[in-house]
Amino acid sequence: MSEIIAFKGYSDGDVDTNFTNLRTLNEIADERFSRRQTIVGGLKASAAAFLGTSVLAACSGDEVIGAPTALVNAGADATTSAGRMVTIAPTAGTATASITQVAGPAVTLSGTGANRTFFAPGVAAPTILTFRVAANNQIDDVNITVNPAELGFASVPRNLDDKVTVPAGHTVTVLTKLGDPILPGVAAFQNNGTDTNYAGRIGDHGDALYYYGLSAAGVRDDFSSIRGLIVQNHENITEIYLHPNGPTNLNSGVRPAAEAIKEIEAHGVSITEVQDTGNRNWVVIGNSALNRRITPNTPMGINGPARGSDFFKTVASPDGTTCTGTINNCANGYTEWGTNLTCEENWAGYFRRDNSGAGSDNANRTARDLTALRRYGVTSTLGNYNWTSASTTDPVFRRWDARAGTGAPTTDYRNEPNTFGWTVEIDPFNPSSVPRKRTALGRMAKEGAWLSNLVEGQRVAVYMGDDSRREYLYKFVSTATWTNADRNRTDRLAVGDKYLDSGILYVARFNADGTGTWLPLAFGQVPTRPAVGTEPAYVFESQADILVNTRLAADAVGATPMDRPEWTAVNPANGEVYLTLTNNNAAGRPVTGTDAANPRSYIEPRGTGTTTGNPNGHIIRLREAGNLPSATTFAWDIYLFGADSTDANAANVNLSGLTTDNDFSSPDGLWFARPQNPSGVGRPLLWIQTDDGAFTDRTNNQMLAALPGRVGDGGSRTITNTNGGTGTQATVVGAAATSATLRRFLTGPKECEITGVDTTPDGRTIFVGIQHPGENVTNPAAPTSNWPASQNGAAAGSRARSAVVAITRQDGGIVGV
Ligand code: FEO
Ligand code: CA
Ligand code: CA
Repeated sequence: MSEIIAFKGYSDGDVDTNFTNLRTLNEIADERFSRRQTIVGGLKASAAAFLGTSVLAACSGDEVIGAPTALVNAGADATTSAGRMVTIAPTAGTATASITQVAGPAVTLSGTGANRTFFAPGVAAPTILTFRVAANNQIDDVNITVNPAELGFASVPRNLDDKVTVPAGHTVTVLTKLGDPILPGVAAFQNNGTDTNYAGRIGDHGDALYYYGLSAAGVRDDFSSIRGLIVQNHENITEIYLHPNGPTNLNSGVRPAAEAIKEIEAHGVSITEVQDTGNRNWVVIGNSALNRRITPNTPMGINGPARGSDFFKTVASPDGTTCTGTINNCANGYTEWGTNLTCEENWAGYFRRDNSGAGSDNANRTARDLTALRRYGVTSTLGNYNWTSASTTDPVFRRWDARAGTGAPTTDYRNEPNTFGWTVEIDPFNPSSVPRKRTALGRMAKEGAWLSNLVEGQRVAVYMGDDSRREYLYKFVSTATWTNADRNRTDRLAVGDKYLDSGILYVARFNADGTGTWLPLAFGQVPTRPAVGTEPAYVFESQADILVNTRLAADAVGATPMDRPEWTAVNPANGEVYLTLTNNNAAGRPVTGTDAANPRSYIEPRGTGTTTGNPNGHIIRLREAGNLPSATTFAWDIYLFGADSTDANAANVNLSGLTTDNDFSSPDGLWFARPQNPSGVGRPLLWIQTDDGAFTDRTNNQMLAALPGRVGDGGSRTITNTNGGTGTQATVVGAAATSATLRRFLTGPKECEITGVDTTPDGRTIFVGIQHPGENVTNPAAPTSNWPASQNGAAAGSRARSAVVAITRQDGGIVGV
């Protein structure tokens, strides 16, 4: 944003220029102090506006060393905020000035001579930086006061446009798109349904992403902001766009194998090199040797305590140590040892396992099996896309039929569903590496896996949501304590073995008083899960049992059912953990079933109808006892409540005081700015992305930028819920949002969700995932969105594609602040 900074007008004040010899620094300092007293009263203030930067224009010199030819002045003291670009521009005649920092947190000065810039550092409280300009045998100092970060853009209005809308002064570049070739020999994408070989293309439904820097030599460089790998999940497909006339026999009959393989391969993970060709103009390197597609057919290892257990033994892996591929990859995590954690969310629906009827395998299943399969929702009669119909013999298709035969488990794929629902670790820098499923982290509809801030000598925690209604928040704590020496090892997956294969898995219980407890899911400590309805009690037999059937164990210990746990994020400055709870319906959150951590049940107007329950969702956060990742208790409050500010009851629904500039619904993606740049230090920026259906009458899905406080910055509150009855609920609410702490940064095209966000290490390019634009299409000839072709104007008929956009500020500044 534009910023106005006062600067000194030129002054030819009463300055002694008659020095003939250089003096000591102490002498200079003494004289400088007295001279400033004499000249300051003669200064004339003025102002300058310079897009996105603080300009400190120069004027008269007030220090003279030797025989000057002109006077030097460093400029007026000024105030800015974290992340803003500051220019130090001494007076004319000082082209050869040297400018050095003499006080305050060290910054890197860019440029040469008399015009130097730097980004104000991230700070938690006002902090003074002092710079010294020396030229013409004179010196002058200038103080820059840096305040904590402020949002640096004007809020984007709610809108229903078929494009990505960003604030004025920003540029959108569409980067990787569904179907773009990224491996050798793959044909250009036609986008008419005829394209094949998705194992060599960018997949569909791009979700979480992370940027891994590369050096000029093409090896890992965590500080490179001009060349890197984008690792992105491909969660799902809009199958209608993938075929010329939509899918054949989707809901009955035999799927053509060519269609099924296309859909299978459009899932997974892509690793794609991108480069800045100058001034943050990003291009995709389609032939990079580091590009890779990981699909549901990619060989993988099974690691951790459940490796080799009977749960994983199939005809394809008789010893239960390997498995095939990953699917429905939703949110992610990254590790400071340079790997990616991709997480398998809604995998259950891909399998055929008739839970009843003529095709059911119930007769060949144990009661324990059936309890577990129902708890995870492996109950479909065809599978989402009926892939297994394509062949009864080819394992690529056959494996999606999880029905048990009458033979041994190693004669069929009955255990194939047990190989999904995990956190999968990938080494993105080694295209031939075999990804590892980390069973110690538990199995669920795994939304994401975000690590605690790593501290030498402390254990490593991983925070994970299980995204279904009334599911739980989990934490894994490593046995090993962190050592910084592991950060730069090149055997990255072995480092993962150290921290992610041994430890304790916990599930969260949120108490009514704003405290919480991590309940260990350790064999011997988990009681029998009681009978539920007609399902018998479930007795855990091993740690592998607990890890494979994590949901059952969490039920047994009394965890708190939440309003759909989505992403987790960890504040890099203070370690507090944030969790999006995207929404719940009235059945999942009735008035009679609220609790302090999931306190709302209400009726929300939507167009001519209503949605009920907690349709707009909320974001909860917690602070570990002692700020230790290994703590077993925590404090929590609700940071933010989604709401439609136009409709919502202010006292009972719009509890965060949202306005049309920052109202949102169904938070999902959640990510704190990297601490490698000022926007992630001191008062870090939090990015919030939505995947909503309750507020889409007013606006397409969106991304907001926030400057959160911390747990406990609000207070206790009791609300009245009205939703087919009334009730009161006490809760703990964080400080209300304001225009200074929450603004809408971006809106997406029609029918998309916004998901996936990261920046370059310098924070000057933000990468954002636009998933499933036009997802409600019913006729491939009539796409319901034409994005990304529509980004710069009408593009009737163009099929919608999920894509990653790169967004930059036109002034080159750090995005968001
Ligand atoms: Fe894939 Fe829960 O979002
Ligand atoms: Ca509404
Ligand atoms: Ca999600």
